[in-house]
Amino acid sequence: MDINSLKAALDASPENVPLLLLVARAHLDTFELDEASLYLQQAIQIEPRNPQALLMMARLSSLAGNLSEAIVRIESLCELNPDYAEAWLLRASLCVSEGDGMTARTCYEKAVALNADLRNDKLLNDIIHAGGSSVSDAPASSQSAARQGSADTYDFENEDEDDSPSLDGVMARDLELDFQLRSDKTFEDVGGMEEVKEQVRMKIIYPLRNPQLFEKYGKKAGGGVLLYGPPGCGKTLMSLATAGEIQSTFLSVGLHQILNMYIGESESRLHEIFELARRHRPCVLFFDEIDALAADRRDMKQSSGRHLINQFLSEMDGAQAGNEGVLILGATNAPWHVDNAFLRPGRFDRIIFVPPPDEEARAQIASIHARNRPVVEFDPVAFARKCDGFSGADIQAVFDQATEEALTEAMKKGGELVPISGKRLIRAVRHLRPSTRKWFDSARNYALYANQDGLYDDILTYLKLNK
Ligand SMILES: Nc1ncnc2c1ncn2[C@@H]1O[C@H](COP(=O)(O)OP(=O)(O)O)[C@@H](O)[C@H]1O
Ligand SMILES: [Mg+2]
Repeated sequence: MDINSLKAALDASPENVPLLLLVARAHLDTFELDEASLYLQQAIQIEPRNPQALLMMARLSSLAGNLSEAIVRIESLCELNPDYAEAWLLRASLCVSEGDGMTARTCYEKAVALNADLRNDKLLNDIIHAGGSSVSDAPASSQSAARQGSADTYDFENEDEDDSPSLDGVMARDLELDFQLRSDKTFEDVGGMEEVKEQVRMKIIYPLRNPQLFEKYGKKAGGGVLLYGPPGCGKTLMSLATAGEIQSTFLSVGLHQILNMYIGESESRLHEIFELARRHRPCVLFFDEIDALAADRRDMKQSSGRHLINQFLSEMDGAQAGNEGVLILGATNAPWHVDNAFLRPGRFDRIIFVPPPDEEARAQIASIHARNRPVVEFDPVAFARKCDGFSGADIQAVFDQATEEALTEAMKKGGELVPISGKRLIRAVRHLRPSTRKWFDSARNYALYANQDGLYDDILTYLKLNK
């Protein structure tokens, strides 16, 4: 049925919610977001809790580029309708956009458990690339399905699928599958960030390549590096690239997965993870959004926070076992929520500010994003000049928007290829605002009024607020 006959039907019965939703979906599918929103809102006025309408609302927010709004909507929908498989699936893909592979994986498994038809290899692959390997507490059936789906990403030392294996064996194997990350990103995919790249090379890549030389200087692989800075500037990407660069094990740990366990369990889980890293040395152990450990987070169950932090600290100190050969990499947008004890020397021994990309880095990032698209008449340097203050994610959004426009035109022209011109990209820049300003509004205050030991001097320098 085409959209005009749907609308004619709607004229006859304007309060027909299923019809309203059909029209809204037709508009969504052609990216006519304003129209879609109009019909959706009418539907929601009549049936405020209609799950399909709420799902489309979330999709609409995400298509309009409001990722965080989309996530809030989809989270509440999942809470309202925990059996709605499509909602979990959309949530999984939104989590991937947000870079939260672990949560994405949990949501994906839920969706597929509710409706096996929703299995989607491409999404699963994206989830794995975002750091979401298998979920240990998922039912065995979906585990093996997940393994099949990602066979090209994992190394399986142990491929037999025993139906009744010993519990310990399962735990050890799953822990490895859960956290081991293989990535096809390399430093080539990261624009700028030269200082971070150099730190990673010095702490893990070079020592592995030249062990004798490093030994002569009394240096070994390993240590701790914490990356902090505004969102969207490449911290998570940089870690994925590190995983791709090193020829050794890379373990990516979603703290949320640990935090949601019962008191006491999360500490022993954390210990197991560090032990796993030590067994696999040389190895990189990556904790994204490490501020999730902070005790004031509302999603932290009970008040077990302190215990977990202490456990983390003693693992970092390598108290019993020693962390030689283990590079602990952390990332956060909110270093002020990271417990002070982590920032003391000997734990994260390098704390690196990852600022928004400068002009040169912006040109590099633009070239990276232009690589696999039909981009023509494009001068990355001129482009970089026009997007001062943009994060890498903002630049990606510019490319996404221009791509969507060109694609829509291409569809209107019956499938003819419409290239993405430099002009079109610059026009898209004008429609977007740099997203990092808000972060600097609060960062400025921390740097000015809570700058213990000059921790945030880099922020002051960046903002030109130095004495
Ligand atoms: N330096 C960069 N080079 C290339 N792409 C970047 C860079 N920084 C950010 N991006 C783009 O923005 C997206 C989000 O960046 P991400 O690493 O998740 O930011 P952060 O972890 O700092 O919040 C990346 O997936 C990538 O597409
Ligand atoms: Mg990140």
